[in-house]
Amino acid sequence: MSSDGRIPLPLLPTTPPTGRAAVTCEYRCGNACAHEAPNTSGNEYFGDVVRGIVSRRGMLKAGAVLGIAGAGIAATGGAAAAAPGAPGRGHGPKPPRGLDFEPVAPNRLDALVPPRGYRQDIVIRWGDPVLPGAPRFDFHNQTAAAANKQFGFNNDFCGLVPLRRDAWLMVSNHEYTTETFMFTDYDPANPTREQVEIAWASHGLSVVVIERDKRSGTVKAKVDRHYNRRHPLTAPFTVSGPVAGSDLLKTTADPTGRLVLGTLNNCAGGVTPWGTILTGEENFNQYFANADQVTDPVVKARMARYGLSGGASGRKWERFDDRWDLAKEPNEANRFGWIVEIDPYEPDAKPVKHTALGRFKHEGANVHVARDGRVVAYMGDDERFDYIYKFVSRHRMLPGNSRWARHHNKKLLTEGTLYVAKFTGDSPASEIDGTGTLPSDGEFDGSGKWIPLASGRTSFVPGMSAEEVYVFTRLAADKVGATKMDRPEDVEPNPRDGRVYAALTNNTDRGKAGKEGATEINPRNANRHGHVLEWEEHRGDNTATTFRWRLLLVCGDPNSPDTYFGGYDKTQVSPISCPDNLAFDKYGNLWVSTDGNALGANDGLFATTTTGRERGHLKQFLTVPVGAETCGPVVTEDFVLVSVQHPGEVDGADANNPASHWPDGGDSQPRPSVAVIWKPGREIGT
Ligand code: FEO
Ligand code: CA
Ligand code: CA
Repeated sequence: MSSDGRIPLPLLPTTPPTGRAAVTCEYRCGNACAHEAPNTSGNEYFGDVVRGIVSRRGMLKAGAVLGIAGAGIAATGGAAAAAPGAPGRGHGPKPPRGLDFEPVAPNRLDALVPPRGYRQDIVIRWGDPVLPGAPRFDFHNQTAAAANKQFGFNNDFCGLVPLRRDAWLMVSNHEYTTETFMFTDYDPANPTREQVEIAWASHGLSVVVIERDKRSGTVKAKVDRHYNRRHPLTAPFTVSGPVAGSDLLKTTADPTGRLVLGTLNNCAGGVTPWGTILTGEENFNQYFANADQVTDPVVKARMARYGLSGGASGRKWERFDDRWDLAKEPNEANRFGWIVEIDPYEPDAKPVKHTALGRFKHEGANVHVARDGRVVAYMGDDERFDYIYKFVSRHRMLPGNSRWARHHNKKLLTEGTLYVAKFTGDSPASEIDGTGTLPSDGEFDGSGKWIPLASGRTSFVPGMSAEEVYVFTRLAADKVGATKMDRPEDVEPNPRDGRVYAALTNNTDRGKAGKEGATEINPRNANRHGHVLEWEEHRGDNTATTFRWRLLLVCGDPNSPDTYFGGYDKTQVSPISCPDNLAFDKYGNLWVSTDGNALGANDGLFATTTTGRERGHLKQFLTVPVGAETCGPVVTEDFVLVSVQHPGEVDGADANNPASHWPDGGDSQPRPSVAVIWKPGREIGT
């Protein structure tokens, strides 16, 4: 720790524009950042046209906070490095309920580091059995047949629904495969059929029963014959909503346009109030080949807006199945980029792709029940200069868990109105200079409105049919003046008050030549560390079409003048970079996980309250091993689950030269896993 009690900052990195390894960029999102951002629309930001009333609400809160001590950064390996010192114990302000823990210091350990006094265990890891008869994982003798019964690779979102006392159904999605980390003999130019089929099996979804051992407090996955399922890239998914059966979704293999094999590149997700899981299909474009052979200029332009371009794909799947070849099956890519709903209580039901929620690079979707009972799904399109959306259902949710209520509620996302967000700043444009310096009213804030795109068969977008709006939603949003954002990831309503939060991960292109510059809502050029946005809908009605917004966090090094932590004393907060997934605990505290720490430390999980004097007092709850990303946080009163995605995925590493040996230690290969963290005899954060 430094002498003034601040958490020591790690060294700043020297090369990457973000903290993500090049290998992750290649396999996770097909090097999205190396390509031009697909939004080349002339759609401009109108944010600073309207000048609002100056508010002083964001003035720094003075003093009265206690120093957080921090441990130094350990070089490698070794024991956990929780920060000593306990804010709020005995003197100083009491921490908010559920947030009484010692912050973990930034580090580069090959370990999961929780706060002092907490324990950790592995719930399930890549290759562990999910289905009965699954063989024990054998890294050097993998088969597709085995992988189809085992936990997939690179689990990202994690959602729980209750099953019985101390048991839950856990749904994990498997975003992508990194073949150079899965096989010692992988040749990217010539993958074998078995390797490709293992990759198909290692994508998709897993449904797993997990149980908490009351005595020890740990949580473990079970092989459950009735509920456990895998939904790999060869499993059937149905299509629902306004474009089910559309010509735009028909292929040779599926002339109905209603049955798709698999789900791709699932990122974040959400648990619905009716007990199903939503998961977002994100960077699906990277799996498709030969867009450069498509000659129809309209089709080509639509593909380009989704990043579908070039010849051979990175994984070369087009050699093994024509559906990955756009020259042969141009509609296959239209069957990805949706929100998927899965009902873990009905293990034999096919997961559903909901077309009413639009098609883009869906990070995820999170549902809030509005006062009138209609449901509102909030969504981000994770790409530089893309948009934030919401869907308002036509029908109201039925309470209860009856068969009829569940049947009704599972159709709520098939009919409604899809909107895109437009944000307006309230400070003069001259005060938004791209450095992140707060404007004179003390806050990055303003108003906004929801622009309708389509509802059922009605399009609100000139020149586009409703069918086109749903399938080419990005192009529709371009036309109506949506606000270009800095990679919108999780968008999460606080279940306690209905306020909505969005993680904007980063956008190093903002302000570059030819690109949109800083706006009040995306106030930093070359934005490396991202920000967290908060808004409340008009009169607290989540179906409203107007709202007020403000930035809660402008992330990065708290010592840097371009950061902001809800107005809280920045000497007392944990550094954070690249916010990605958001979650709320039962007290309404906001938990934030990160993807690609551009400050040079490992990724982590953080928490703050969003109200009262402690608003913005962000503390790091854990860090994940070297090269890993912290995903899918689930925060219950008894435990925290995190998906530890792509441990060891750093440049220069591969299966022949692993940079991490987590979680099994020794000279083992790293394995993406769900980890559990708990505090024996106590609730989380107490
Ligand atoms: Fe898969 Fe948006 O991160
Ligand atoms: Ca302002
Ligand atoms: Ca994400």
